[in-house]
Amino acid sequence: MSPRKKKRIALITPGGDAPGLNACIRALVRNGIYHGFSMFGVYRGYEGLINGEIKELKRRSVSGIIHHGGTMLKSNRCKKIMTSAGLQKAVDSLKRNKLDYLVVIGGDGSFTGALKIAKKGVPVMAIPASIDNDVYGTDETIGFDTAVNTAVEAIDKIRDTATSFDRIFLVEVMGRKHGFLALSIGLASGAEFIISPEMKYSVNRICADLIRDKAGNKTSEIIVFAEGAGNSMDVAHKIEKRTGFPVRVSVLGYIQRGGAPSARSRILGSIFGVDAIGLIRRGLKNKAIVLRNNSVRHILLEKSVRGQKYIDRKFHAFAKTLSR
Ligand code: F6P
Repeated sequence: MSPRKKKRIALITPGGDAPGLNACIRALVRNGIYHGFSMFGVYRGYEGLINGEIKELKRRSVSGIIHHGGTMLKSNRCKKIMTSAGLQKAVDSLKRNKLDYLVVIGGDGSFTGALKIAKKGVPVMAIPASIDNDVYGTDETIGFDTAVNTAVEAIDKIRDTATSFDRIFLVEVMGRKHGFLALSIGLASGAEFIISPEMKYSVNRICADLIRDKAGNKTSEIIVFAEGAGNSMDVAHKIEKRTGFPVRVSVLGYIQRGGAPSARSRILGSIFGVDAIGLIRRGLKNKAIVLRNNSVRHILLEKSVRGQKYIDRKFHAFAKTLSR
């Protein structure tokens, strides 16, 4: 009897990189090989898939990466995958390389591409990884914990100088069109204000609070501002004009995307990777691996792509009362 054909599994990281991606890649490769699969890496996201940038990965290919941010497979914001011609080229590339599964590790954009590929008949498995934590169905995405810690560390430093000068700082954080990052960063850094895209805010209300704080001899103020909530410089200027208080702006930017992954991000990446291999071994496909109440589960990929994740609004109220 001919030996059972080894399943050939390809991994891809097509979206914004996030600390912990390499831990996930490492777990997928080593656990996949352990269970008799051949593992392949697609380099440079969906662009690389379309161009056939695919290489076999062995155990040693993923040595010494668990503690590095970024993705060893590199990424590329590829719009072509959203076109029927580009999508077909991607599917043809998978078939030409005789790949049985595509494991997509990324955020909502990556999941959307994965669903398109699945609908063309190629089995996929999706693992949520993004600093934005905005993937429907999972409590947490790989990289979110590290990005929060990175931003909190930066804001703690800003708080020192704010206190020295009795200053107001408006700190812009990432998160695309959601406030998950801003809320957690704001709470953990003891911010006096958190401004997120999902919650209406009034500059006049903020100014009134700042004036009241000043009268109460409060020495420093941190306003955490999610990039999706508007123009941070514009809001800072309005506050300065209406209160007469100087407002300094710090845009944290891309430091939130890199750096050594936290232990939590490494563990999340590793257990998501092992779980994905387990589902493939069971012959399941087109699922999204999720974390629900600290347990690893899976839902239909389509459900994750179609779903909308909402912030916990009570977090906002905490910021105001806990910081004064
Ligand atoms: O999705 C992760 C993220 O860092 C967002 O928070 C941010 O808005 C976006 O990526 C930036 O995209 P790019 O890496 O293409 O500049």
